Amino acid sequence: MDKTTQPYSSAGMLRDDALAEKTIIVTGGGTGLGRAMSTYFLKLGANVVITSRKLDVLQKTASEMEQETGGKVLAVACDVRNYDEVEAVLAKTLEKFGSVEGLLNNAAGNFISPTERLSANAFGTIIDIVLKGSANCTLALGKHWIAQKQPGTILNIITTYAFTGSGYVVPSACAKGGVLAMTRSLAAEWGKYGIRTNAIAPGPFPTKGAWERLLPGDLAEKFDFKNRVPLKRVGEHQELANLAAFLMSDFSGYINGEAITIDGGEWMQGAGQFNGLEAIPAEMWDMLEQLTRGTKGS
Ligand code: HXC
Ligand code: NAP
Repeated sequence: MDKTTQPYSSAGMLRDDALAEKTIIVTGGGTGLGRAMSTYFLKLGANVVITSRKLDVLQKTASEMEQETGGKVLAVACDVRNYDEVEAVLAKTLEKFGSVEGLLNNAAGNFISPTERLSANAFGTIIDIVLKGSANCTLALGKHWIAQKQPGTILNIITTYAFTGSGYVVPSACAKGGVLAMTRSLAAEWGKYGIRTNAIAPGPFPTKGAWERLLPGDLAEKFDFKNRVPLKRVGEHQELANLAAFLMSDFSGYINGEAITIDGGEWMQGAGQFNGLEAIPAEMWDMLEQLTRGTKGS
């Protein structure tokens, strides 16, 4: 690490009991970022229910996570697009753990494509997984918590292009934008029931699932994400897990309706009109300064 590198820690941040006595459902919890966040929730004392479509993947992950953390994991197959399957996850969760306190809407589908190449079904598939899936889980848990007169915490994983939009991932951008709107809307509507709703917008955090679909072949080298980030690196999974655990925990009890970006400044770098001047070599600035000063009074 040279002197100009911003220091960072990839250690767990919260105290060991920060999520004790909480049961948290994590959609897409068997792989990638969902797995990383679930593992940290377990280390902090939570019970975790991981769901996705592939039961074999979930079961393997569950047993590895239990071994690593000593926590309790329930693996339940569920396609978040089907409301009855989501309700079944809730029922199995209550049967095993007695109560549920948190929902992490993390499951997603995505791939790059020029929009005009997409079939209507391709577009709809992404909307269904990301927006309808998050809505299904939120609705099932929200109805349950309101009926039980019990507080709850919802955390939605979005993306920074939920704010900006992005070409080549348009269905995902539309869906994540919808999840952001749901986050803010329910923060206002369900706060009175003691239900908090927040979101995290991660920048690039390498995972097999995302990289295979968004940077196939040699795109990963050609479109190296770390060059797009002012801090010149991608994120570490534990950094995201720290933020997610904080937002799930009672330590963030007054945070509601917030979307927190964790991207090393990536989207701001893309947004600022003159940020491209980064490409100008240091030695050229004397000449440019002379030119700009020379316009005085003109
Ligand atoms: C064009 C495609 C396509 C592609 C599928 N389709 N892949 N069209 N280009 N690459 C079309 C199919 O032809 C079909 O349309 C429709 O999409 C549905 O495809 P299925 O394969 O039947 O869908 P399904 O089995 O439900 O699989 C969903 C999936 C798949 C999204 C296509 O990739 C998946 O399971 N993904 C889950 C994991 C994932 O995507 N992880 C990455 C999240 S990363 P037709 O018309 O032929 O029927 C992320 C990061 C964001 O969100 C930011 C990163 C920095
Ligand atoms: P990932 O490993 O591919 O995770 C996606 C998960 O969603 C998988 O476990 C998948 O499991 C599950 N899933 C997909 N369709 C589903 C469905 N219909 N029903 C239930 N589960 C389904 O990718 P990841 O990178 O960890 O992504 C996790 C989250 O972070 C996503 O919301 C993504 O948009 C977000 N994100 C990631 C990055 C990044 O840089 N990695 C950046 C910004 C945002 P099955 O295939 O078994 O169903």
